Amino acid sequence: MLHLILDTDTAGDDTIAMLMALRASNAKLEAVTINCGNIDFDQQVENALYTIEFAGMSGKVPVYPGARHPLLKDWKTAEYVHGRDGMGNSNFPRAKQRPENRHAVDAIIEAVNAKPGEITIVEIAPMTNLAMALRKDPSIADKVKALYFMGGTNYYQGNVTPAAEFNIWVDPDAAKIVLNSGIPTTMVGWEICMRSGLLDRKEYTEIQRFGTKESEFFMSVNRQVLRFMKRAYGLDAITCPDSITMAIVLNPSIVKSIKQRYVEVDNVSEISRGATWIDELMILKRRPNVNVVYEASHAAFKDMLSRLLMGEKV
Ligand code: RIB
Ligand code: CA
Repeated sequence: MLHLILDTDTAGDDTIAMLMALRASNAKLEAVTINCGNIDFDQQVENALYTIEFAGMSGKVPVYPGARHPLLKDWKTAEYVHGRDGMGNSNFPRAKQRPENRHAVDAIIEAVNAKPGEITIVEIAPMTNLAMALRKDPSIADKVKALYFMGGTNYYQGNVTPAAEFNIWVDPDAAKIVLNSGIPTTMVGWEICMRSGLLDRKEYTEIQRFGTKESEFFMSVNRQVLRFMKRAYGLDAITCPDSITMAIVLNPSIVKSIKQRYVEVDNVSEISRGATWIDELMILKRRPNVNVVYEASHAAFKDMLSRLLMGEKV
């Protein structure tokens, strides 16, 4: 049984990753922690609370608000991708469950110390909370069972600047701290999403025809994403970066190729802020710090996502 903490900037695909964790037969979602990122912070908290209620788990999974700002740098939110409410402007009602009073950083530290060697952290947001937790209690680096993060690129164009993927770009200083912490870490870059985590028109229309509350939710939260992908990429497609990451956590056989490599984050430049440089040829002769996913199975991911959106356990 996996014991998960999900760190999220809850908008669009984040909610589908959360739903997947809530419906997983081999995992327990112990807590959700909120990190600044996609949209207005308090709206992110509401989106997480609503998703838990939508999954029929109201009151069963605590939501801890965390960092409202990156460690050092300013950033811009991404309503242009996800809609003003981050949920395709679906204007979902306010959930009954309320967020916890405890800060996300303290919640992460407490959970990891309470279950040393058991907690898997799934990072689908900028890494400010996790970096702050590591600075407050460095000992957790040896106690986290595994970290999987959606972020960065492996020699692939960025999605927020030519050089960088959004999660790393928002807080490259935090990412640098986390990737050099020693936590066993797996990276799912933006290129994996674009190559294996994209649903084309035929595929998302198939999902729409399921006619379940889950498929309706999926199409609602991705309404603005569809418009953005057409405008920015000329693609009629829905991107699923966070849910393919969660799918890999729950079912590692989705990964077709993975390599241990040294990965460095650029937290100093302006133009290449947030770039993730993977030492593919191991030229730097530095100890590899990340398991980089090079290839994932679109078919296996789509099968898992389809079962979820048909209303099944995954
Ligand atoms: O670059 C995509 C990532 O940034 C996703 O996690 C999305 O939710 C945003 O956080
Ligand atoms: Ca996210």
